[in-house]
This record gives sequence, structure tokens and C-alpha cells, in this order.
Amino acid sequence: MPARKVAVVVGSLRKDAFTRRVAEAMKQLQPASLHLEIVEIRDLALYNQDIEESPPQPWVEFRNQVRASDAVIFVTPEYNRSIPGGLKNAIDVGSRPYGKSVWSGKPCGVVSASPGAIGAFGANHHLRQCLVFLDMPVLQQPEMYVGGVNKLVETGGKVANDETRELLTKFLQAFAGWVERTIRAG
Ligand code: FNR
Repeated sequence: MPARKVAVVVGSLRKDAFTRRVAEAMKQLQPASLHLEIVEIRDLALYNQDIEESPPQPWVEFRNQVRASDAVIFVTPEYNRSIPGGLKNAIDVGSRPYGKSVWSGKPCGVVSASPGAIGAFGANHHLRQCLVFLDMPVLQQPEMYVGGVNKLVETGGKVANDETRELLTKFLQAFAGWVERTIRAG
């Protein structure tokens, strides 16, 4: 069976983001049943319903990329105990036009990361609130709050210790099972 296509949405816009490093680490650790691909959100104009009649090309490309994927993993930092505006905007762009959301029904997972000790717990759970409305079945366990991320993953996604590698690997294995179960049940 071909690997399931997973759109990885990184919530930070900066080039050497810790969350991008985590996404890259997950790409290196993915099981054979998954194919992770980062979907860029940097060029998405702020959502404005007035321009839906002739949507910007980056909106169109983003929507097509997510639509073509079997599943989604969000890797989010925390801004003021919530998700960054850029990630919320990407979610909003993908959710419209009304009735044509690209998120609907896709199995997903949430990974949050911060240099802080609590691993962006607040962002992780604010994101989950959106997922309810988007009708995305989300993996519940294991939860992934990566605290102290600046010391755990290097530029390019090299993981600094075995414990973090095992944690990410376990998450990906559980996620692969979740994707299969959700798609088969669908
Ligand atoms: C932050 N940061 C932060 N960290 C955290 O753990 N909880 C928070 O609420 C916030 N709030 C916050 C707001 C804003 C506007 C910024 C720019 C930053 C710090 C944040 O974790 C740190 O900048 C990370 O490096 C951001 O993630 P990326 O870009 O490295 O993935």
C-alpha cells in the first residue's frame, strides 16, 4: 500500500523556527506507512471573504495541497498562550469557501513546542478547539508538548537525545495507526 500523504502545517513563519525543526525531525523519523510534507503558510494573505471571487494564488495552492493529503499534522508554537495568527489564518483560509473546507474529515495530530517548560500546552489546546469545528478527528494520545525544544532539536531536524527521538517516533507510530483506522472507518 502506498504511504499516506500527510500535510505538515508548521505554525511559525520564521526560517529557523524550533517548530520547523521538529517537523523536519518527524520527517526523518516517519514510519514507511506515512509520507510527511511541509505545506507552507508564509505567503497566505490574511483571510478576507471579499477576495473569494478571485482568490490569491497562494490560497489556491495551499487549499489544493491540503485537499490532496490524507491527513494533517499541526506543529505549533505558542504565542500569548494561544496559536500564532499565521497558523489561525491558514486554518481560516483552508476552511472556506463555506461548504468547501479542505480540512473536513481529515485525521490529524497536534504537536506543540516551546523553549518554555510547559511545551506550548495553551496553544495545543486552543488549536484543538478549532479542530472540533473543522470536523477533524484528532489523535488524543500520546499528547505531544515539547518543552525546552531549543535544546532538543537542531537546525535541519537532528534530534539531540534518544528520549526525544523515542517520543517523536512513538507519536508517529500512534499517528499512523490513527490515520489508518480513521480512513477505514470513513
Ligand atoms: C512568544 N513565546 C511564547 N512562548 C511560550 O511558551 N508561551 C507563550 O505564550 C509565548 N508567547 C509569545 C508571543 C510572541 C508574540 C512571540 C514572538 C513569542 C516565545 C516562543 O515560544 C518562542 O519565540 C519560539 O521560538 C517560537 O516558536 P518558533 O518560531 O521557534 O517555532
